[in-house]
Amino acid sequence: MSDLPADRDALQAILDFHVEAGVDLALDDEPHDRFAESKASPLPDEPKPAGQPGPGRPATPPRALPKAASAAPDDAAGMAREQARHAQSLEELEAILAGFDGCALKFSAKNLAFSDGNPEGRVMLVGEAPGADEDRIGKPFMGRSGQLLDRMLGAIGLDRSEVYVANIVPWRPPGNRTPTPQEIAICKPFIARQIELAGPKYLLCLGNLAAQNLLDIKEGILRSRGRWFTYRTEDGREIRTLPTLHPAYLLRQPLQKRLGWRDFTALRRALDGQD
Ligand code: URA
Repeated sequence: MSDLPADRDALQAILDFHVEAGVDLALDDEPHDRFAESKASPLPDEPKPAGQPGPGRPATPPRALPKAASAAPDDAAGMAREQARHAQSLEELEAILAGFDGCALKFSAKNLAFSDGNPEGRVMLVGEAPGADEDRIGKPFMGRSGQLLDRMLGAIGLDRSEVYVANIVPWRPPGNRTPTPQEIAICKPFIARQIELAGPKYLLCLGNLAAQNLLDIKEGILRSRGRWFTYRTEDGREIRTLPTLHPAYLLRQPLQKRLGWRDFTALRRALDGQD
């Protein structure tokens, strides 16, 4: 591997590039110096699939994900429900989630981004999934979307010390892709228990994914936003819930900020007991 830069930052940048590009699995345990191998034994007749022996290439088993991560999605969601149910506090839930191997996203993410803010707050906000900044820091809404979110909260007199923030999926999907329905189904019991344990008075769904999955609705966010819904916890509590536009969408479509502003003022009115 003599062509690789020796310094740590450059190596880290190469690794980050691969993760950004969506590479989420190394096939072999050991690195291979293909240049040295091909010099030692000229062209093989035919390429062999990874993990099979070839000229100059010893058999190495593909790196397996932990067994639970390759479980069928229904099984993994069942395990998630079972484990989430046992958490009696948010700290316990975070620890259980950190040890949960049923979602393959965990193995490409740097960190679990479980929550930020104040779990005692009257308002809980649920977004989609961590991005690169959140993954690096290990908390939701740390990057540009988070900064806009903070400004929107500030505009109605709130800050992170008064609200609790989480995501539908707590691990960053490689390359910031949208989480798959299977990944969401596996993570959903955890966010459901997180909402139940935090017990906010108001819930804000940031974007389509949070709104559709938490409220079990099919309509898109441009239709559902700005209307109050009821979220029911498993233990039968009802939480007033407002879908609104995701800050990342507002960064791309700044003209829509006026709709976001309307939703945040609706939340302010509710907090003031006027709605
Ligand atoms: N977008 C989200 O939905 N959540 C984050 O934490 C960051 C960006």
